[in-house]
Amino acid sequence: MRPAKLVLLSILTMTGTAMSQTSVTKAPFGKLPNGEVVDQYTLKSAHIEVKLITFGARITAISAPDRAGHPGNMVLGYDSLAAYLADTKTYFGSIVGRYGNRIAKATFSLDGKAFHLPPNNNGNTLHGGTEGFDRRNWTAREIPNGVEFTLISPDGDQGFPGKLTAHVRYTLAGTALSIHYTATTDKDTVINLTNHAYFNLSGSGDILSHQLTLNADRYTPVDSGLIPTGKLAPVANTPFDFRAPHTIGERINAKDEQLTLGLGYDHNFVLNVASSSQPHLAAKVADPKSGRTLTVLTTEPAIQFYSGNFLDGTAAGSFHGHDNMLYAKRTGLCLETQHYPDSPNHPAFPSTELKPGQTYNTTTVLEFGISK
Ligand code: GLA
Repeated sequence: MRPAKLVLLSILTMTGTAMSQTSVTKAPFGKLPNGEVVDQYTLKSAHIEVKLITFGARITAISAPDRAGHPGNMVLGYDSLAAYLADTKTYFGSIVGRYGNRIAKATFSLDGKAFHLPPNNNGNTLHGGTEGFDRRNWTAREIPNGVEFTLISPDGDQGFPGKLTAHVRYTLAGTALSIHYTATTDKDTVINLTNHAYFNLSGSGDILSHQLTLNADRYTPVDSGLIPTGKLAPVANTPFDFRAPHTIGERINAKDEQLTLGLGYDHNFVLNVASSSQPHLAAKVADPKSGRTLTVLTTEPAIQFYSGNFLDGTAAGSFHGHDNMLYAKRTGLCLETQHYPDSPNHPAFPSTELKPGQTYNTTTVLEFGISK
């Protein structure tokens, strides 16, 4: 090999190594009332910094540079554990489970048997019940480029059958944060895990000028309790058509029964590629103000687009959020990759059942960028 080629090769190798190298550090974040320690893990690549805590296996901050090169945080969250304990409403950055989103009338049947869950949302069960996975202190261990969180949910936990062992692995490579979920059970059960991060790519103000694209021809309309009616409706000619980019604010106040029921967008979009083993494009967000972009890829069949309609600045009582912010209505948006809400009560929806011997296995990738 000629020397010039050798030099080029070693530069390429060095760049490759720098790209994939992520540092992982651990520090105590706080103590729960029972004395258990909540740890914080910081993942740092050349481009992005991600902060995670064991309470709820949650993302507390993601920082990336804007188009001028200034780093800033892009997710809603708090600086103290006390604030996370006080806020039982928003699920900021957490892993929601055992069943993310709603189960109607807090009940479902499996193998001919009825199971009853704690009703915590107008008679329905939201995000796994009153003590969902977002309120648990997960165990954690460092893995290459990231952290693996583990939770053992006992048989009968919040009314769900089967002892469930769940792992959530966050890994950061360059500009991409991957979230990999696996779980096993010892009895037939249902499962729907997702991350409930609220994004604000500007880091302040509302998200109404963020431009959204969703790879979805259809969505699942809801009733007044935000439970799917069972229909799959086309988005064409409605304010739910995000197949080409639209700002979130453009049609959010349009006269539309579904927007009225959701108080804005709070709906499950059916992705055009049904679940597959490789993550496929689900959503793109671009913020013209900061230049920051987010692309969401997933193996899941659907995505909940929630425009932060219930945020009112009071979720954590007197606690403020990062940078002393009070998170008012529509200051953050969620893109929760998932199976459809209330699937256990809709045999026609893709199944959320997990049986002994099977492994629940899904991946979502959040890719951050800058548009000039
Ligand atoms: C989900 C739901 C919303 C809301 C938030 C949490 O995204 O779909 O209706 O409950 O969680 O406030």
